[in-house]
Amino acid sequence: MSNIRKIGVLTSGGDSPGMNAAIRAVVRAGIASGSEVVGIRHGYKGIIYGWMKQLKSKDVRNIIHRGGTILKTARCEEFRTSEGREKAYEQLVLNQIDALVVIGGDGSFTGAGIFSKEFDIPCIGIPGTIDNDIYGTDFTIGFDTALNTVVEAIDRIKDTASSHDRMFFVEVMGRGAGFLALQSGIATGAEAILIPEEQGQEEKLRAYLEEGNKRKKASNIILVAEGNNIGGAQEIAKRMADEFKDYNIRVNVLGHMQRGGSPSAFDRFLASRLGTASVEALMDNQRSVMVGWQNHDVVLMPFNKTIKGTRNINKKLLEVADILNT
Ligand code: F6P
Repeated sequence: MSNIRKIGVLTSGGDSPGMNAAIRAVVRAGIASGSEVVGIRHGYKGIIYGWMKQLKSKDVRNIIHRGGTILKTARCEEFRTSEGREKAYEQLVLNQIDALVVIGGDGSFTGAGIFSKEFDIPCIGIPGTIDNDIYGTDFTIGFDTALNTVVEAIDRIKDTASSHDRMFFVEVMGRGAGFLALQSGIATGAEAILIPEEQGQEEKLRAYLEEGNKRKKASNIILVAEGNNIGGAQEIAKRMADEFKDYNIRVNVLGHMQRGGSPSAFDRFLASRLGTASVEALMDNQRSVMVGWQNHDVVLMPFNKTIKGTRNINKKLLEVADILNT
């Protein structure tokens, strides 16, 4: 049994498809466990300024399929300061909130971990980011949808690439992680995939372009993960265009369209399960843990592990991409 009577829920960091489904699950599971649930708007900033209101079951009706987040989200500098967290604590006391569920990425969990320790507030994290870069979970909410969005966009670009015999450098999001690039690259049959986790990519790309030149292979998709150590798609494309005059090169930075849209069935499912698991964890007197998804089931991962750990990319997949691209 737990003493939790009022749970605050917020979304923090970049929005990702499925965050609304997670909010819905937290609200409904919270109510089912006998608690009141309060929606906090604009992430941590909303705690500091008291932007919150009770969410009833009907308030989360018809949002499971909607992208973005009804609670809005932000990256909050003030919450990084002890003064900001002090104000946030005062607001929680004022509003009688005795636990928090934070839906976001590892930056959001860092804040939650510090806050929980400083003020003895139970905080549970739900991984929500399109980057899939959180240690301790096989999937983050939003990754699957973003992956499908990227694949659809590249399929379209391929039509033009092939019709005009062009080489497209397509940049996808992922901050410092190559999960979106690597998986979408394999799923679309991209000719080369450049990710931040790999070294020696420019030489490899050059060798590929030289070889392609000989074979007169004109239509190509080169996938570039943002945060790459050899530059973004624009920069790499410019260098290659200067060197390889025979290719007809274009650049496409997919940008924020990757973050929007209706969540996939998998993301809705994952968000629903992790949302209910976050309330189960609170009722089980857990604090400072993320609810993650491993081997088709829920796991609890302490914040300090999630924050310190690095989710490694499976480099075997680069080999797979190379084999399939011959
Ligand atoms: O973390 C999600 C993400 O979309 C990253 O892939 C990207 O680097 C970043 O957020 C972009 O952030 P913003 O929307 O603040 O420009």
